[in-house]
Amino acid sequence: MRVAHNPTEIQQSLGTLRKQKSIAFVPTMGNLHDGHLKLIAKARELADIVVTSIYVNPLQFGPEEDFDTYPRTFEEDAKKCQASGVDFIFHPDNLYTQDGPKVTLCVDTSLSVPLCGSKRPGHFNGVATVVNLLFNIVQPDFALFGEKDWQQLVIIRRMVQDLHMPVTIVGVPTQRESDGLAMSSRNRYLTPDERLRAASLSRCLHTIRQGFHDGESDSKLLLERGRNVLAGADIEPEYLEICDEETLEPLPRLSRSMRARAFVAARIGKARLIDNMPLYTMEAINS
Ligand code: PAJ
Repeated sequence: MRVAHNPTEIQQSLGTLRKQKSIAFVPTMGNLHDGHLKLIAKARELADIVVTSIYVNPLQFGPEEDFDTYPRTFEEDAKKCQASGVDFIFHPDNLYTQDGPKVTLCVDTSLSVPLCGSKRPGHFNGVATVVNLLFNIVQPDFALFGEKDWQQLVIIRRMVQDLHMPVTIVGVPTQRESDGLAMSSRNRYLTPDERLRAASLSRCLHTIRQGFHDGESDSKLLLERGRNVLAGADIEPEYLEICDEETLEPLPRLSRSMRARAFVAARIGKARLIDNMPLYTMEAINS
């Protein structure tokens, strides 16, 4: 495994290899957990060479957000990458021009404003810009993203489609702790009591999904049941919605043929956590 610290280094390393070999790319901000490692394992299955980037992208953090305190754990991350069969880590100090980027990508408000977008203005423009930039540097055949950040996955798929980027996007199901909590680098902000309460996020989504499968089609009633689960853990959600999983538009009435998905975000102590679950399947919650 090799570590590249700037775009030239990684491009030189991949330059000749890419002629004979396929490349799968897993962009991350580091502090790797089993969710990230699942993406890496899938990348290993898909291509000859696996590249992982570790870069905490300033452009996607708001002024009040946790850019400065975001966990940076490169030594441990590198060990996990090595053990998981990563070939190259791309770990740049900074990816932007010294005076800041003057040209960035702009995601249509229909995708950037719902759900996480309303509380994180500019976030998805920052994500799209850095992912585009990373794709230009790495030029992968495949790029893997987690379903945990569903809105991000939808936006990246549209970016690749709309801008004709020559890369195949692969979504990977959410990796969960044994009590259902979606793995996240931000879970480490939780105190033991908050950690216990946080499991109610996935329980709330599970309750909504169960209610739909038992025959309820009124989203308002389903969401009320979900809210009760959260209230039991003293959690007031930032949002709790049922939306079309591609357009992200809210769905007031549900039918079996709809690609409906429930989404939740909540602040628990210092952590802002998100989760989502499809309603059209009853796959095990820990799949
Ligand atoms: P980060 O939060 O580090 O996540 C990197 C990738 O891991 C994303 O595709 C995310 O969806 C996936 N992931 C995180 N937790 C997961 C889980 N529990 N199960 C499955 N996949 C999981 O997302 C980002 O970084 C950044 O926005 C990035 C795309 C790197 C751009 O800066």
